[in-house]
Amino acid sequence: MVTFFLYKPPRFDKDKEIRMSTSATEQAAVDAVPLEDIDVSRPELFQNDSWRPWFERLRNEAPIHYLADSVNGPFWSISNHQLIKEIDTNHEVFSSEAGGVAIVDLASASTGELQGESFIQLDQPRHGPQRQAVAPSVAPQNLAEMEPLIRERVIDILDKLPIGEPFNWVQEVSIELTSRMLATLFDFPYEDRHKLVHWSDITTAVPQVTGDNSIDMNERNEELMKAAGTFYQLWQERVDAPPKFDLISMLAHGEATRNMNENPGLFLGTMLLLIVGGNDTTRNSISGSVIALNEHPDEYQKLRDNPKLIPNMISEFIRWQTPVIHMRRTALQDYQLRDKLIKKGDKVIMWYLSGNRDESVFENADQFIIDRANARAHVAFGFGIHRCMGNRLAEMQLRILWEEIQSRFYKVELAGKVERLSNNFIRGIKDVPVILHPYK
Ligand code: HEM
Repeated sequence: MVTFFLYKPPRFDKDKEIRMSTSATEQAAVDAVPLEDIDVSRPELFQNDSWRPWFERLRNEAPIHYLADSVNGPFWSISNHQLIKEIDTNHEVFSSEAGGVAIVDLASASTGELQGESFIQLDQPRHGPQRQAVAPSVAPQNLAEMEPLIRERVIDILDKLPIGEPFNWVQEVSIELTSRMLATLFDFPYEDRHKLVHWSDITTAVPQVTGDNSIDMNERNEELMKAAGTFYQLWQERVDAPPKFDLISMLAHGEATRNMNENPGLFLGTMLLLIVGGNDTTRNSISGSVIALNEHPDEYQKLRDNPKLIPNMISEFIRWQTPVIHMRRTALQDYQLRDKLIKKGDKVIMWYLSGNRDESVFENADQFIIDRANARAHVAFGFGIHRCMGNRLAEMQLRILWEEIQSRFYKVELAGKVERLSNNFIRGIKDVPVILHPYK
């Protein structure tokens, strides 16, 4: 494919391997591809962090773009902020249920993918009651009650980190913290919390998303069956006990969800949704936050000068990182979107990552600006009836983490090459080597 061969790796800072702006060579590669052939779903664009000029071209030249043929079949790309909101709020026409929420089609014989069903991929009227059954677990009052425990767990992690020597921030902080959070949310056996991370990782690891055809789908499915078995056991324990404020107990006792265990697809899908929702996203925001501050030293100084900026900075982290790259909808009827006719059955991809770099909404959108006035206007949590249920929880975790980091360390220094995942759905970061510098 022409785009593949023209691709040149992004430029990196010699010492730190920090991503620099789009090079002339990269831009020339993007400009050389006929508009109608641009495929922004290629996982390698996210692995080597070279997606910016591709989306910029779509936003400028074709914010409603049709690709007739790709490994994911034909699809529309929606790449600007306003159009994304328009599609996301029109759930009568743009269905989450008809084809799922990822660019990869729902399980088929050809993929061999074990796929559950969950409320993120339900339309009304089934979606509302299921969401409402779980939502109280992340309501403001419950979050306020969880805050001291989360802070305690954050402090425990930070106080054990090595000082002055390199380590992988992703492993020691991002993964560790989110697995502790998930174990808290599910009231999952604490010593087994890493299983939650593992199940989340393999849920999103299908070849069309990662570009990795060596993934053994049978092995993956077996692992997911083990996850189902563990959750069934916990469910049974919670059914027999008085209701509590963890997610499994709430589902097991909730009016709309108490028979969920009788539908294996729905049961597994809902559990996986809650793991993936609460794991990959927060983890990668935590990892991305260190990269953002290192790439923007002036902003890091602003933070030292004024830690009250932390809440706004968290929204800016989430905008800048955009951990969920896209969501997909399927048109239930023909729909005229500006000058394009979207046909019934068409696959429509809302590229949140691109919407959050839309210059018409965010000035200097590629810059990370911790006191950006409209940082909260980002679309990283989606919009409409499926807007992220855990958004306040995610913001709280990040806020507590940065409050505690700031009171301990002058700098979390990026000290090596950042490694990213080949994945067009989750903007995943594998390795962020850092060195901690305490205050003198
Ligand atoms: C920075 C962190 C997070 C980001 C960027 C994020 C992003 C998203 C996005 C883009 C959606 C789909 C929105 C749409 O289709 O319009 C979503 C839905 C969802 N998220 Fe999150 N999420 C995050 C953290 C969490 C956490 C911590 C939880 C834990 C409970 C969670 C649970 C969910 C659930 C259950 C849904 C489905 C909501 C529905 O369909 O009604 N998310 N999230």
